[in-house]
Amino acid sequence: MYRRIKLIKGDITKVSTEVIVNAANTSLIGTSGVSSDIHKAGGIVIDQQCMDIRRRLGGCKTGEIVVTDAGNLDARYVIHTVGPVWKGGEKRESELLYNCYTNALKESVRLECKKIAFPNISTGIYGYPKKEAAKIALKATEDFLKENKEIEEVLFVSYDEENYEIYDELLKQQNK
Ligand code: APR
Repeated sequence: MYRRIKLIKGDITKVSTEVIVNAANTSLIGTSGVSSDIHKAGGIVIDQQCMDIRRRLGGCKTGEIVVTDAGNLDARYVIHTVGPVWKGGEKRESELLYNCYTNALKESVRLECKKIAFPNISTGIYGYPKKEAAKIALKATEDFLKENKEIEEVLFVSYDEENYEIYDELLKQQNK
């Protein structure tokens, strides 16, 4: 199973995959962080489709997902998910973060995509402790991959060195 999980350090807008996951906010407006990079690199189609979803559905709830095309990105779709804002750990943050990963993976299967790339959701502006967030991301992914054979590659893309080191260490421990 772990061979299906990969880790790289870099910019998620540069990867070649089928689904790129965006760490969005409930209004689906990408003004900073990874979200801004995805909207800029993907182009106007992503902005337009996000606006359309806002008009129809009012946005996206925390832990849930919405889908747009990937525009100029080297992928078929962008799955936008809203991670929890860290409020100390008593506000269902871990459950909501787990749901982000699980819901994105489920949607990828529904879209008949076998490759997906995740950023480190909630670990930027939303302030989730990075090690705890990484453990949840990996647990959700492993739980999903155990039950689902359709997904062939889950790529974790860490932008900052600290996240990269944390994932690298956790994945090494699991491979022992
Ligand atoms: N590629 C991959 N990862 C990136 C990139 C990038 N181009 N840019 C930033 N990151 C990383 C950050 O280092 C961080 O670890 O993405 C992680 C998540 O950071 P944020 O983008 O701040 O996302 P989050 O903490 O979930 O906060 C969501 O920020 O992006 C906006 O619109 C989004 O308002 C929402 C909020």
